Amino acid sequence: MEVNFLDLKSVTALHDTEIKEAISRVVDSGWYLQGEETKCFEKNYADYIGTKYCIGVGNGLDALTLILRAYKEIGRLHDGDEIIVPANTFIATILAITDNNLVPVFAEPRLDTLVIDDSAIETLITERTRAIMIVHLYGRCAYTEKIYDLCKSYNLLLLEDNAQAHGCCWKTNEQILKKTGSLGDAAAHSFYPGKNLGAFGDAGAVTTDDENLANAIHSLSNYGSTAKYYYKYKGRNSRLDEIQAAVLDVKLKYLDGDNKHRQMIADYYYENISNSCVILPKRLPHTNNVYHLFPVLSDRRDELQSFLQNKGVHSLIHYPVPAHRQDCYKEFETLSLPITDIISKQELSIPMGPALNFDEAKYVVEQINLFA
Ligand SMILES: Cc1ncc(COP(=O)(O)O)c(C=O)c1O
Repeated sequence: MEVNFLDLKSVTALHDTEIKEAISRVVDSGWYLQGEETKCFEKNYADYIGTKYCIGVGNGLDALTLILRAYKEIGRLHDGDEIIVPANTFIATILAITDNNLVPVFAEPRLDTLVIDDSAIETLITERTRAIMIVHLYGRCAYTEKIYDLCKSYNLLLLEDNAQAHGCCWKTNEQILKKTGSLGDAAAHSFYPGKNLGAFGDAGAVTTDDENLANAIHSLSNYGSTAKYYYKYKGRNSRLDEIQAAVLDVKLKYLDGDNKHRQMIADYYYENISNSCVILPKRLPHTNNVYHLFPVLSDRRDELQSFLQNKGVHSLIHYPVPAHRQDCYKEFETLSLPITDIISKQELSIPMGPALNFDEAKYVVEQINLFA
């Protein structure tokens, strides 16, 4: 049997008639940017996430970069300010910070949950700290009340990188469900094709309740203009196009169902993977995890990966080299981040997705359990 890591063709096939109708509608309309499709998706996504505003942008990196840039334009951030961020994240989170002449201050994740260790944050706060950027990595909610309280006590912005966790919920003590992307001051979302809500190319969005910030991001993503040919900022071109917006609007309707399927596959993995060489991350309280990825840890990770590959089970590593060890970030190479290093050496993501069936999941489990 061959089990793909993620078969995007099968994911698209789940809703392809509606998606093709939506694309044809845009093609026939003759209107391809800044039109009704984008407005409609922005409204529906803001409602879904539970924020007042959603601004469609070109991709997730731009969403992150524009949030920070907009905070600079409205005077909340300045060159050299420090942003606390988990050290185990996709490079884009860090690029957005350094691209804005801000300083990433790396926090360790927890080895058992793989998201930022909230007990490791307070000691990192200095008088230059202005924000905590949490990353809901792998679809796991990184928000905790402790992080919220730290932001309140030190007057820090709480920012979310929600690229990997569309539809993930945090349950308050009053049992109210709040979506990741609505838990802080602003959140960046990527709709890269393989994401839980994936477009047919690059796409992204920012969600926020802050009107000033939303207006600044809207302008900055459209050359910095406030009215056609009038520029308040030195902006860029980073817009969500009409075809991507129409596709995303169709897929948004099925996101909760697709996430439910991921959760059922994950339950199956949790119940049936049983191999002392393979550690499954702890389930987090107060959240429903949308399993963008299903990471496991093994101190024989590379052997495990080739064993699975030989049995037809495809897996990927997220991520083999942390940001502070990348060639482009030589300035951080002396940092000691042992938990982040362990995760980069032991993490393996096994097949997961809305089109993965239970026969495939069963085969994945059987092969993992056979690894010795
Ligand atoms: C955690 C995280 N942040 C940011 C990004 C950047 O998104 P994009 O690829 O749309 O630029 C990604 C995705 O690729 C991601 O996984």
